[in-house]
Amino acid sequence: MSTGEDSRRAPPAPEALGNGVERIAGARLNVIYEGKRCIHARHCVTGAPTVFLANVKGPWIDPDTISAERLVEIAHACPSGAIRYEGKDGVPEETAPPVNLIAIRENGPYAVRADLRFDGQAAGYRATLCRCGASKNKPFCDGSHHAVDFAATGEPLTDSADMLAVRDGPLAIEPLPDGPLKVTGNLEITSGTGRVVARVQSAKLCRCGGSANKPFCDGTHTRLNFRST
Ligand code: FES
Repeated sequence: MSTGEDSRRAPPAPEALGNGVERIAGARLNVIYEGKRCIHARHCVTGAPTVFLANVKGPWIDPDTISAERLVEIAHACPSGAIRYEGKDGVPEETAPPVNLIAIRENGPYAVRADLRFDGQAAGYRATLCRCGASKNKPFCDGSHHAVDFAATGEPLTDSADMLAVRDGPLAIEPLPDGPLKVTGNLEITSGTGRVVARVQSAKLCRCGGSANKPFCDGTHTRLNFRST
């Protein structure tokens, strides 16, 4: 007699979309997985363990084991955007969040939720961006902050700036060569614990790890001879 685990069908084989991106077809939505963007926040394997199988070899995403609506919630919780989806059969596509946010993760990356534009191109709604300077997949975080023991000194101060009149809209992110991330658009910057650090419409954010005025660039990248490639 086989156990339930023995009789479990194998997850569907992913379809390669290029650049390390995979599509895993489901009945009501397709999961899109971009491994290079994953920061192992583990919302997927803990929130939907029958969909995102931990510690298996080969195909590990099985979209049809929970409802599409629940799977959408799990995808939205993925801070890096490594997990995305294509809705079908009445499942709507992901839409832009109502407020553009960058959360400064303690000793880790910037977690961005916005209608993102990289180099003028639409780039989804979630991303984690390197701020330690060590990622091999810049401007995205690849977890290297652990390897280099990145320690961002203190938490930034709380800011009392007025609420922005408009809080959403496109957020353009331009990684300046060997320099900071130039961010343009309506934006609230918060600490990892949710305190408001700044409300801005443009900013240059440190990504070399060396600024004494984090999260903002203070020019230290020049002294550190920071290289963004
Ligand atoms: S990018 Fe870090 S100080 Fe400018």
